[in-house]
Amino acid sequence: MPATYEVSMNTADTTTTKDKEMQASFSYLDRQFSGVDAYLDDIKALVQRGDFTLGAAVSEFESRFATSCGLPYAVGVNSGTDALILSLRILGVGSGDEVITTPNTFIATVGAIAMTGARPVFVDCNSEYMLDVSQIEAAITHRTKAIVPVHWTGYPADMPAIMDIAQHHDLFVIEDAAQGIQASIYGKHVGSWGETACFSLHPLKNLNVWGDAGVIVTRSAELYNKLRLYRNHGMASRDEIEMFGYNSRLDTLQAVIANRLLSDVCVITEQRISNATLYDEAFVDLDGYITIPLRRSGYRHVYHLYIVQAHDRDALLDYLQSNGIRAKIHYPIPLHLQKAAAYLGYKTGDFPVCEELCRTTITLPVHQHLTDAELAHVIEHVRKFYLAQ
Ligand SMILES: Cc1ncc(COP(=O)(O)O)c(C=O)c1O
Repeated sequence: MPATYEVSMNTADTTTTKDKEMQASFSYLDRQFSGVDAYLDDIKALVQRGDFTLGAAVSEFESRFATSCGLPYAVGVNSGTDALILSLRILGVGSGDEVITTPNTFIATVGAIAMTGARPVFVDCNSEYMLDVSQIEAAITHRTKAIVPVHWTGYPADMPAIMDIAQHHDLFVIEDAAQGIQASIYGKHVGSWGETACFSLHPLKNLNVWGDAGVIVTRSAELYNKLRLYRNHGMASRDEIEMFGYNSRLDTLQAVIANRLLSDVCVITEQRISNATLYDEAFVDLDGYITIPLRRSGYRHVYHLYIVQAHDRDALLDYLQSNGIRAKIHYPIPLHLQKAAAYLGYKTGDFPVCEELCRTTITLPVHQHLTDAELAHVIEHVRKFYLAQ
């Protein structure tokens, strides 16, 4: 048993009443829903209007969301996954095509590519945990049709470099911005770089509605018009079908919730950034134990997740969890080694940086509802784990 683990067990055994109270309080559902009456009033108004599909709240949300990204158009859909699938399909990506992305992402990025019939092609990540742009060109073939960079954890991918490569090779770029609401590069929002960008409004995201929902943004009027048709059976009107499409409408009820949250998203984002900054400062001297990823100046990280590399990661995870801290791993198995990806033929060692991150990264709670005491509790326990030996 490693020394640090013994320390963690000893410390856990001496848990005080204050610690126990703290352990109970990391759940934030009650805090998130403290202002629930205002939401319920909006839902009552929806029930009275009865515009349950593609209602007024959907158009309002689309217009406000597009503006918040500095773009003219947004199309509400029923999940971030559908946002990716619809974007890829509307750009003509399908069977016989290859799409480059990162193995260090949530399954939806890769699943969406595979669902179109295209082949996902992985490129390793770098010390920023992001798609390593220096390796993209080697992965491009005559079949490559698109690149799907992921703004993983809410940190922007290197979009200027990715756009240069895409333009040079005539490839589409579909940004997976599921985790990146309000992130930006020198003031230019993520989502405003590629042909389209795909956001998730899932209950765990920074702008989190009460079920599944997603939104696609674009600067192209042509893509906007096609996507609006595509998400609603290709119907130009009740009786006229312009193209075969799909039912992936953003639910009006979720748009009602999203409209209220959109007013708060700046405050939510600032709070997450402030929490992350506190952690960064508290861990800076834990060099060798905690490695904070490189963060470029001018890149606005919105901390959907706060992830660092940790020495003796699994023991730290156990220790933090046994002290009531909702630490997690995103994710222990990289996408190229998942059973679902076996047909792609990748093997262990193909993407060493990503594989190393899967072994060493840990996610600490960073959400906007954390109290000062909870943040201090996390910091105290991470430090104790390494230093009280
Ligand atoms: C990176 C990434 N892409 C895509 C998605 C899919 O979004 P949704 O869950 O709304 O379908 C998620 C959601 O977790 C995600 O984290």
